[in-house]
Amino acid sequence: MRKKLVAGNWKMNMLSEDAMSFLDAVIPRLADEALVCAPFTLLPEMSKRARGTKLQIGAQNMHFESSGAYTGEISGDMLLDIGIKYVILGHSERRMYFGECDEHINRKAKAALSKGMTPIICCGESENQENPMEYVASQIRAAFRDICDKDASKTLIACEPIWAIGTGKTATPDVAQKMISHLRSTLRERYGSIADQVRILYGGSVKPSNIASFLGEPDIDGALVGGASLEADSFVEMVKNSKI
Ligand code: PGA
Repeated sequence: MRKKLVAGNWKMNMLSEDAMSFLDAVIPRLADEALVCAPFTLLPEMSKRARGTKLQIGAQNMHFESSGAYTGEISGDMLLDIGIKYVILGHSERRMYFGECDEHINRKAKAALSKGMTPIICCGESENQENPMEYVASQIRAAFRDICDKDASKTLIACEPIWAIGTGKTATPDVAQKMISHLRSTLRERYGSIADQVRILYGGSVKPSNIASFLGEPDIDGALVGGASLEADSFVEMVKNSKI
């Protein structure tokens, strides 16, 4: 049984006072495990504050090398040093604005897994993409290149149509299910039954009122949520509504 996961992606939002108020409001009300991926500056404090609770804290990116001359970058070892084990990789905003390509994302995923971290590999098509199912499947094949069965089973995927991110428009649950089931079949070609252990999240304008409709689909194992994860009540409500 794959456990449902609500994962917040705060993007470049929140300062420390608001982040701490969020944790104070959310942690005591969480009955189930959930994840918030916060900006680097907040991670040490949030990680300390959330230790031993049901709230996991994750990062939104990392470099594939452990250390070295990469000005402005953060490595997996640095994240582990402050207790961070989850990391979003290859979000469409990183692909779009920072030139991340499938090869970078694959290298980052392998680096994270080699350190025992859990990557959340993002994929998704733009509105005008021809043959979107095959396009997204090719992103996943590339991201999983040379990842062994054991590591693949621990990796999470977030499938987010680019046109649904931050727009208030969502795929219908049925369309999201079809895409995510296609991704699982793509994983099955390479990993066989291990594909059934990989958690695949939907993302793109998920909020408290629509989360259950996505998570009710057989292949959708959770949600990666941007805007609606910034507010404590809304986040707690989504975690509650993810229990179906
Ligand atoms: P959104 O963002 O929920 O604000 O659409 C989702 C994401 O980018 O992960």
